[in-house]
Amino acid sequence: MVSMEEKIYKPREFARLIGHSVFTLQRWDRLGILKAKRSPTNRRYYTHQQYLDFLGKREAYPHSEDPHLEESAYTAQTSHYHTFQRRKQMRIITIYNKKGGTGKTSCATNLAANLAALGFKVALLDGDEQANASMLTLPHRYQRPTLTHVVSENVPLLDAMYQARRNLWIVPADMHLTRAVEYIHGQQDFDVLCDRVDDLQADLEESASEELPWWNKPEVRPRDFKIEPTTQEEFHTHPDYLDFLIFDNPPNPNALTTAMLYASQEVLIPVELEEYAYQGLAQMFEDIQRKFRRRQQKLKITGIVPFKVNHTGALTVDYLSSVWRAFPTLTTFSIHTDKTIPNAQAYQKTSFEEDRSSRGAKELFALALRIAGYQGKIVGFDDCKHCAHARELAQQAEVVEV
Ligand SMILES: Nc1ncnc2c1ncn2[C@@H]1O[C@H](COP(=O)(O)OP(=O)(O)O)[C@@H](O)[C@H]1O
Ligand SMILES: [Mg+2]
Repeated sequence: MVSMEEKIYKPREFARLIGHSVFTLQRWDRLGILKAKRSPTNRRYYTHQQYLDFLGKREAYPHSEDPHLEESAYTAQTSHYHTFQRRKQMRIITIYNKKGGTGKTSCATNLAANLAALGFKVALLDGDEQANASMLTLPHRYQRPTLTHVVSENVPLLDAMYQARRNLWIVPADMHLTRAVEYIHGQQDFDVLCDRVDDLQADLEESASEELPWWNKPEVRPRDFKIEPTTQEEFHTHPDYLDFLIFDNPPNPNALTTAMLYASQEVLIPVELEEYAYQGLAQMFEDIQRKFRRRQQKLKITGIVPFKVNHTGALTVDYLSSVWRAFPTLTTFSIHTDKTIPNAQAYQKTSFEEDRSSRGAKELFALALRIAGYQGKIVGFDDCKHCAHARELAQQAEVVEV
C-alpha cells in the first residue's frame, strides 16, 4: 500500500486539493513559485510533502484570482515596435458562439491557417462531428486517431495531430464524436481537455525564441505570405512546439463545448448582426460567467468579430453600432459577406488559398495579424466606410449618455 508520504498527485488533483487552477499551477511552476516534479516521461506531478508544505505556508503564495471573464481589447496585447519574439507559452483560444452558422468554423480554419502562414505553429481541434474544419486534411484520407479517441480513450493530443499545411496541425473530428460528448457527460469529466492539454505541454518543447521577420516592420503585405501544402511525410510529422491551440466548437453547445472552454485562456466570438445581437452576446457572457463561477481560472475575451456583415440590409449599421456601443473595446473590424469564404470551403481550401485578393481573404488575414498582436499597417486592407459610420454612431451615443 502507498503511504501518504509517497502519494503523488497529477496537476489537476493537486490543483483541486489546494483550491487553485491548473493554469495557476503551470504559472507557478514556470515562475518557480511552486515547482512541479517531473516523471521520466516529463509529466508534471506533485508530492504529498509539497501539499503539506503548501498548507504550512499558504499565506506566502499569491492570492487566488477571482474566477471571472476578463475583458481585454484585442489590440492592446502588445505594443508596437517592441521586438517580437515567439512567446514561450502557447495561446489557447476557443472560437465560441452558442448559435450555429455564425461563422465559427470559417473563423477558426482561416485564423489558424493564416497564423500558420505568418510563421506561427498552430494546432486546430475540430469539435464538430460533421468535421468541417477537418476537411483541410483532405485529400489525405481520414486519419485515426481523432478528437474522439483523444477524449474518450486517453490518446495523447500529439498523436492525433496531422500537419495539413506547413505549420498547421489539425486534430480532426469524426462521425463518432458524440462518443466523446457522452464520455464527458458519463464521467462528468469536464476537465478532460485540460488534462490532455497539460500532457501536450509536457510533450512539447518550449518555443524557440525566434524573431518573426515581419513583426518590426511598420507595414506588412498579406500577399508576401503563403499557405503552403505539406508532403505525405510532413503530414504525419508532429509539431515540436506550438504558438496557438485553437478550438472549433460544436455547432450547438454540449459537454465538449464546456471542456473546450475550460481548457482555454481566451475566447473569440464571431457574431452575426441581427436584432438583439448585443443582448445575445450579453446573455452568452452571463452563461460563461456561470460556468466559471466555481473555477479559479480567468477567461479572456479576445474579441467579438462581426461576421457575414452585409450592408445591403437597411438595419445593419444600427445592429453594428449597438454591438460597438455595448462592447467598444472588444469589437473588431467586420468580416463582410463574401462568396470566397463558402467557395473555398467547398474545395477544402482556406479563403486565402482560394483567392487572396478577395475581400473575405484580406479581412480574415488582417484578423490573424491583429489577433497575433501586430499593430502596423496592413497593406490593401482598408476600414469599411459603412462600418466606420456605425462606430461613429456608437461613439456619439456614448457622448450623449454622459
Ligand atoms: N463572411 C461570410 N460570407 C459568406 N458566407 C459565409 C461567411 N462566413 C461564413 N459563411 C458561410 O456560412 C455558413 C456557416 O458558417 P460556419 O463557419 O460553418 O458557421 P458555424 O461554424 O458557426 O456553424 C458556411 O456555409 C460558411 O461558408
Ligand atoms: Mg462549425
